[in-house]
Amino acid sequence: MNKPPPIETVSRDTPDAIIEQFIAIIKENWGDHYPSPAPKLIEDDIRASSNPNRLPLFFYILDPQKKVIATASLVESDIDLLKEYTPWLANVYVDKAHRNQGLGAYICNFATQKAKELKVKTLYLFTEDKKDWYAKQSWNFIKEITYLGVPQYVMSLDLEVA
Ligand SMILES: CC(C)(COP(=O)(O)OP(=O)(O)OC[C@H]1O[C@@H](n2cnc3c(N)ncnc32)[C@H](O)[C@@H]1OP(=O)(O)O)[C@@H](O)C(=O)NCCC(=O)NCCS
Repeated sequence: MNKPPPIETVSRDTPDAIIEQFIAIIKENWGDHYPSPAPKLIEDDIRASSNPNRLPLFFYILDPQKKVIATASLVESDIDLLKEYTPWLANVYVDKAHRNQGLGAYICNFATQKAKELKVKTLYLFTEDKKDWYAKQSWNFIKEITYLGVPQYVMSLDLEVA
């Protein structure tokens, strides 16, 4: 990554065109985690990001053509099986053409620093296949679960030391 691009936070002022792209990204990558009608439920989740001082918060990076090229979010609940863990880092995504340039780690770090500012002590995530990638970013493996028939790794980040 040359110059780190600005990271925006979804707010009441975020244009619909950005929200629509965000919905499409979440639907494509994690749509099966939502009951029907997924796009409406995803939109409700995203639009709940309206106050920078409380969760949920949805973050994104735009390219010069206003295409969303990276996303991440902080949410109270991300998996109905694990209600005892909260809050969560979720929706971590980088557009294929922009991968392997550090954008993924960059937006994750932004989200975790924001969680720290909001006095979150421990952050959680689950991932099917990016355990080693998150481990490189200091995340710790907690346990393996099966969610919707798919094995997933649950991980945590201690923000009191991160
Ligand atoms: C995961 C993702 C966000 C990473 O984005 P990115 O911008 O490429 O990430 P970074 O550039 O910060 O890191 C890339 C590095 O991690 C490595 N990497 C990628 N996947 C990995 C994995 N599963 N395990 C270990 N390392 C991995 C890459 O080889 C690359 O290494 P390099 O820095 O030595 O070149 C992106 O691949 C993505 O959007 N994937 C689809 C959605 C997804 O799986 N999201 C995570 C959900 S839990």
